[in-house]
Amino acid sequence: MSRPAADLHADVADVLLSEEVIQAKVAELGARITDDYADRELTLVSVLKGSLPFMADLMRHVALPLTIDLMEVSSYGGAMTETSGLVRILKDLSASIDGREVLLVEDIIDTGLTLNYLVRYLRGKNPASLRICTLLDKPARRLVEIPVDYVGFTIPDQFVVGYGLDYGERYRNLRYVGVLRPEVYST
Ligand code: IMP
Repeated sequence: MSRPAADLHADVADVLLSEEVIQAKVAELGARITDDYADRELTLVSVLKGSLPFMADLMRHVALPLTIDLMEVSSYGGAMTETSGLVRILKDLSASIDGREVLLVEDIIDTGLTLNYLVRYLRGKNPASLRICTLLDKPARRLVEIPVDYVGFTIPDQFVVGYGLDYGERYRNLRYVGVLRPEVYST
């Protein structure tokens, strides 16, 4: 299980989004959010662990007074590359979002099942508004349609890692988003 960190790059077959491309997009999203929420105070809610780098970078490109909160969810069962749709809250919001302008910050939307659960959960907490920002969108496998307000990149139906995204909890620390070599799944 414990392999040297250099192997992380060797496991990646293809860099889909370079660090430069990601950073430029995050700055662009931050500027749009700043314009759209001008004169309002925002609460960014991110979902651990995958959204952590995106949230950290995005919030520094939003030039508004804001608060942040973190949730952690896990899906029950399913393989390591699938979500089951049954979501369990491992960490709930720390503060009330009643009457707040909430922007949910996601790493990736795949089937949409996790997001669907979260949106319903957060709506039940009575925010003034609730919008969604995702770095990556994989529409090919969507099972639930949810309107997404801010999308960084639409990507093909490939399992990706890096910039927060994991396979078996690894690869989150890569600065780019890449596709793993098929051998990695079989070992
Ligand atoms: P959904 O419920 O199918 O939309 O899946 C959302 C969650 O599944 C994401 O927040 C990720 O944790 C995980 N996920 C979906 N696709 C990928 C991927 O390509 N790489 C890594 N994690 C993924």
